[in-house]
Amino acid sequence: MQHETIEKNINLMAVLIVLVVSFAGIIEIVPLMTQKEVREPAPGIKPYTPLQQAGFDIYVREGCSNCHSQMIRPFRSEVERYGPYSVAGESVYDRPFQWGSKRTGPDLARVGGRYSDDWHRVHLMNPRNLVPESNMPGYPWLLENSLDPKLMETKIKALQMLGHPYSDDVFATIEKDFADKTEMDALIIYLQHKGTNLTGRTRND
Ligand code: HEC
Repeated sequence: MQHETIEKNINLMAVLIVLVVSFAGIIEIVPLMTQKEVREPAPGIKPYTPLQQAGFDIYVREGCSNCHSQMIRPFRSEVERYGPYSVAGESVYDRPFQWGSKRTGPDLARVGGRYSDDWHRVHLMNPRNLVPESNMPGYPWLLENSLDPKLMETKIKALQMLGHPYSDDVFATIEKDFADKTEMDALIIYLQHKGTNLTGRTRND
C-alpha cells in the first residue's frame, strides 16, 4: 500500500493507528497482568492502617509527588543513598501508585525513620526552618485540619472491594485513632512508615 494512500485517507489512517497502538499495548500490558511480582505484595507489605491511608491521601492531595519520587532505581548511587531499590510489589496498595520520576527533592520511598516526628513537623511547617536553601513549600494548614473518620470508613470499604485484605475489625478503631489527630499527624505517620515494612531485603538484593 502506498504511503500516500494512507496519508490522504483519514479513516484508513485512524483504523491503522488503532491497530498499531492496540497491538503494541497488548504486547506491553498483557504479560504484566499475569506476573506475580507486580500483582502480589512484596514480603512484609501490608495494606495501610487507616491513619497511614489518611496520610497517603493527604500526600496525594497536596501534590508532594510533583517534587518527590518514591522509586529507588537499581543503580549503585541510588542504593547507597536511599537503600534497597524499589520493587513493584511494594506499591500494590498505593492507589494511585507514587513511583514517579520528578525529583526536585529527594526520593521518599525509604524516608521512614530517617528523621524524628518533630523534625517532620518543623520541616512541614516551613522547610527553610531546617534547610535554609530548600524550595519546598510549607504546609502549615495541615496542623489545623482534623481528620474525618466517616470518610475513611467509606474509603476502606472501597479498598476492600478492590481486594485490599482488611478485616472488618479495622472499622472499630478508626473513630478512636482519628479523634485527637490532625492531618499533619497522619502525614507524618505515613512518612515514618515509608520503607520500614519491607522485610528480607538488604542493600545488595
Ligand atoms: C516544590 C517542590 C516540593 C514539593 C511540592 C514538596 N517538596 Fe519535599 N522537598 C523538596 C526539596 C527541594 C527537598 C530538599 C530540601 C529540604 O529538605 O527541604 C525536600 C525534602 C523533603 C523531605 C526530606 C527528605 C530527605 O530525605 O531529606 C521530606 C520528608 C519531604 N520533602 C516531604 C514532602 C511532603 C510530605 C510534601 C507534600 C506535603 C513535599 N515534600 C512537597 C521539594 C518539594
